[in-house]
Amino acid sequence: MLAVVYKENSQVKVEEVEDPKLESPTDCVIRVTSAGICGSDLHMYEGRTASKAGQVFGHENMGVVEQVGPGVRSIKKGDRVVLPFNIACGTCFDCVRGRTEACLVANPEAPHAGYGYAGMGPYRGGQAELLRVPWADYNCLKIPGQPGDELEDDFLLLSDVFPTAYHGTELANVRPGATVAVFGAGPVGLLAGYCALLRGASEVYVVDSVPERLAKVKEMGAIPIDFTKGDPVKQIIDLRRGNPLIMGALRAGEEKAMGVMCGIDAVGYQSRDIKGADAHGGREKPTQVLEQLVELVNPTGSIGVIGVYMAPDPGAPDENAKQGIYPLPWAKVFDKGITVGTGQTPVKRYNHFLRDLIIAGRARPSMIVSHRLPLQDAPDAYKKFDARKDGYTKVILKPQLSPKARA
Ligand SMILES: NC(=O)c1ccc[n+]([C@@H]2O[C@H](COP(=O)([O-])OP(=O)(O)OC[C@H]3O[C@@H](n4cnc5c(N)ncnc54)[C@H](O)[C@@H]3O)[C@@H](O)[C@H]2O)c1
Ligand SMILES: [Zn+2]
Ligand SMILES: [Zn+2]
Repeated sequence: MLAVVYKENSQVKVEEVEDPKLESPTDCVIRVTSAGICGSDLHMYEGRTASKAGQVFGHENMGVVEQVGPGVRSIKKGDRVVLPFNIACGTCFDCVRGRTEACLVANPEAPHAGYGYAGMGPYRGGQAELLRVPWADYNCLKIPGQPGDELEDDFLLLSDVFPTAYHGTELANVRPGATVAVFGAGPVGLLAGYCALLRGASEVYVVDSVPERLAKVKEMGAIPIDFTKGDPVKQIIDLRRGNPLIMGALRAGEEKAMGVMCGIDAVGYQSRDIKGADAHGGREKPTQVLEQLVELVNPTGSIGVIGVYMAPDPGAPDENAKQGIYPLPWAKVFDKGITVGTGQTPVKRYNHFLRDLIIAGRARPSMIVSHRLPLQDAPDAYKKFDARKDGYTKVILKPQLSPKARA
């Protein structure tokens, strides 16, 4: 079969690899109909992880079940399924408590596993024609309809970014009426803004610098903040202070808390230093977003850190950062009594509820998808998505569009 294979820093190729097969009675194999390229893939693509040449990428996968092992009960050949990016056994201490992001069994080396990702176990990714799914009963989420129908991309986003964005709003304690700031308007940040609106937030600010992404923020009804136009913390506070309705409703002392109650980091360790940055580029400063969130979030507020922080990071700006050690304004976190939540998303905790919002027509996360391309276009798509240019916001690869799969 054809698959997207990592070669070296900033290079992937589409090449023939061996077809996957059932390795355990509880496995299934799916024919992939859609596989997303994620901002998390870019960390590997840019050589910023321990990913090795030969790795088949792709942790955002959906398709049609082609083979099932004899131990699989609830999934059958022909079922249309979407898979959480986490691979989970379903029976370990963490899985039974719903913490599938920390499955203790699926990866011999660490307490988490996933498809096609550095440090996430020996599993190939789904940017390919076929994919082996371990513990198929537990990991497959059944979806209605036909492959390639108008909801295909909405359902695909249930594999990672829609639940991850929702998880960000959960960690940040977003409630009806909440004030929310999201840093990053990539797929995850855009959908975090979208989820905050779904959950009834009163004000949602989304910070970035890429014009197409900021335009999307506006389109979905949130407030875009361009960090190349000035300090985003000051911009948000000034907007709030400049609103006579907000000012007219303040209680005693509230003028000291003109930031927001809920902050979300949807950028992670490759965040850019806002000083000297332009729309698409700039120097990296791993703590930039965390520092700004601690500044912006009001006392007793919450911060959800869903952007990834990763070690080892061979391309980090200094020795400590290479080991994932960052200087943080922790005293301010303590002083303000801010709650901080972080980590990989337990996709399974949210994916069936979010699927049902899609089925009911109450959520259309696919409004963030910018490109639908055949597998062969992956090298070019990676390059353009990595440059965050030409409107490459979210790319979904469609293996069935490839000449080989059509044959
Ligand atoms: N926790 C999880 O389980 C999980 C799952 C999926 C993705 N992620 C992570 O979420 C993050 C976002 O993913 P994505 O697909 O949206 O990636 P992306 O790279 O497309 O988006 C990141 C955005 O952040 C912007 N940015 C950079 N520096 C900034 C700054 N200082 N302030 C504000 N914005 C800034 C960039 O311009 C870009 O638009 C990545 O770190 C990814 O690895 C985490
Ligand atoms: Zn992803
Ligand atoms: Zn487990």
